[in-house]
Amino acid sequence: MNEMFYPSEEVLKNANVKDYESIYKRSIEDREGFWAEEAEKLNWYKKWDKVLDESNKPFYKWFVGAKTNIISNAIDRHLETANRNKMALIWEGEPGDVKTYSYHALNREVSKFANVLLSMGVQKGEIVTIYMPQIPELVIAMLACAKIGAVHSVVYGGFSYEALAERIADANSRILLTADGGYRRGKATALKCIANEAMRRSPTIDVCITVKRTGDECFMENDRDFYWHNLMGMPIAGANADTVELDAEDPLFILYTSGTTGKPKGLIHTHGGYQVYTSTTFNYVFDIKPEDRWWCAADPGWITGHSYIVYGPLINGATIMLYEGAPNHPYPNRWWSMIEKYGINILYTSPTAIRGLMRFGASWVDKHDISTLRLLGSVGEPINPEAWRWYYEVVGKGKCPIMDTWWQTETGGFMITPIPTMPLKPGSATKPFFGNEIAIVDEKGEEVKANEEGTLIVKSPWPGMARTILNDPDRFIEKYWKQFEKQGWYLAGDSARKDDDGYFWIIGRIDDVLKVSGYRLGSAEIESALVSHPAVTEAAAVGLPDKLRGNSIHAFVILKQGYSSDSQLAEELKDYVAKEIGPIAKPAEIIFSDGLPKTRSGKIMRRVLKARALGQDEGDLSTLED
Ligand code: WTA
Repeated sequence: MNEMFYPSEEVLKNANVKDYESIYKRSIEDREGFWAEEAEKLNWYKKWDKVLDESNKPFYKWFVGAKTNIISNAIDRHLETANRNKMALIWEGEPGDVKTYSYHALNREVSKFANVLLSMGVQKGEIVTIYMPQIPELVIAMLACAKIGAVHSVVYGGFSYEALAERIADANSRILLTADGGYRRGKATALKCIANEAMRRSPTIDVCITVKRTGDECFMENDRDFYWHNLMGMPIAGANADTVELDAEDPLFILYTSGTTGKPKGLIHTHGGYQVYTSTTFNYVFDIKPEDRWWCAADPGWITGHSYIVYGPLINGATIMLYEGAPNHPYPNRWWSMIEKYGINILYTSPTAIRGLMRFGASWVDKHDISTLRLLGSVGEPINPEAWRWYYEVVGKGKCPIMDTWWQTETGGFMITPIPTMPLKPGSATKPFFGNEIAIVDEKGEEVKANEEGTLIVKSPWPGMARTILNDPDRFIEKYWKQFEKQGWYLAGDSARKDDDGYFWIIGRIDDVLKVSGYRLGSAEIESALVSHPAVTEAAAVGLPDKLRGNSIHAFVILKQGYSSDSQLAEELKDYVAKEIGPIAKPAEIIFSDGLPKTRSGKIMRRVLKARALGQDEGDLSTLED
């Protein structure tokens, strides 16, 4: 646990910022001053009157009174400089097709699509739902929404119609942007067919715009369905569009994430604070240089993609890489060959992806010259030291520091993370990012001793924090702010330890949220999918440790009378969940049971199920009903 990896002379010499401790100290002593200084580096149509407004906690406001639009920083300002001709986006499709966009070209496509959206009557503040594979149009669509002040709600392209329909309904979306499909492991996914099914279930959609990617046939309804390329070829899609001037606190996007109840939460992020937080964290942690090529191998449909494929890097004028498909298609060297081909300098991915590629062995990596890499990153779940070392030695050749970044959909950007000059310990996300005071406490809010496990809390507000939950501010308070209301602390939902050197070690979720392959799922979502099957009366889903995925889903199921608990039904139920929610939610195991451990108030005690499945002590059972 105390093995240290020190940065090389070269890293120390070239890093944008070198002294973590002094900047951190300054950022805590004068938080607002620190953030104001960072904000000064960006464009604002009008500067703020006040950096932080704490008058209505926990509904904090940042850069109050300022006028801005994230697009003025992510695109517009680059058009005035040499960045205009710089590559903004390099995209490779799974079949091998390539598209590139300079900042100039990106601006043109975004402006054209902004005009298309305006022609469809899209208003400022309106929520546009986007359900797309990893293609450039996904990024263009997000940016076009932001440009005209519409709010995007990206639904991960691996989700199924039920999940999509629920998110469309909650957002009351009138516009859906999708594609006929995308490629994954050599097969085309039928996204538009799924979208059609979702629109049938959630009929608020008036207009659906479909990108032709695979060319597969899909049903198109008159007056509702349009093809992207047709609209982009019409006079309405002019190449000039105004970037709308907005309030700093105007919403930029909604992103749904799994919580402890079945209903996903639509977290709201804003233009002003989010642009400052994502660009600052990206610049300091990934030490971005003008000549760098940056690859965040996440899906844009998750927060990692929003903050560190799209907004943070573009604000910094970086060149971003986007890849459509699977890391091991057609062979396990796909990523390494792309790093070689494009000369990628920084790679940011998840422990699951690293473990997945590690399985195939170092020889696939060694076939390629990936010496351009100078920095690596990890996100989504704790990285086990074995995977860390492989990543460090085999991928990074022992010269690339690994930035293990702990953060959440709710936080908008990195919260605990190293900077490149910091000594690293495999498996530790190291220390709080500038401005953040973070602690490990017990139930009463007392700080626990060094090396003891406790609840992770954030004591201070930060500009990238989610402002609320769409349509449900009470739930926002309840979930994140209630437990330590007196102290005004943010409850992250993770447990962690802090060692003698002040390094943080994340252990995992303490609520009923599961992290499967880095994806976030709620136990309750899986359970409600299961009970919607005619054979099931009750279900409980837990995550058990899995060498590859971090966790895998194990579901305990009580059947209705007349159904027999055989392996055929178990398989059917697994497929059913995959169809209802998406392949990532497919349970690894279905366990038929006659009863479930419950409290007297009827809450399922998943902790007991988990302990039993692992053969561990079941703990205090005195509150059990049965
Ligand atoms: C987990 C992903 C350990 C954690 C950006 C958190 C991590 C949840 C790390 C948020 C990390 C994320 N080490 N655990 N470096 N990064 N997590 O909202 O449990 O999809 O609460 O955001 O992922 O997941 P989300």
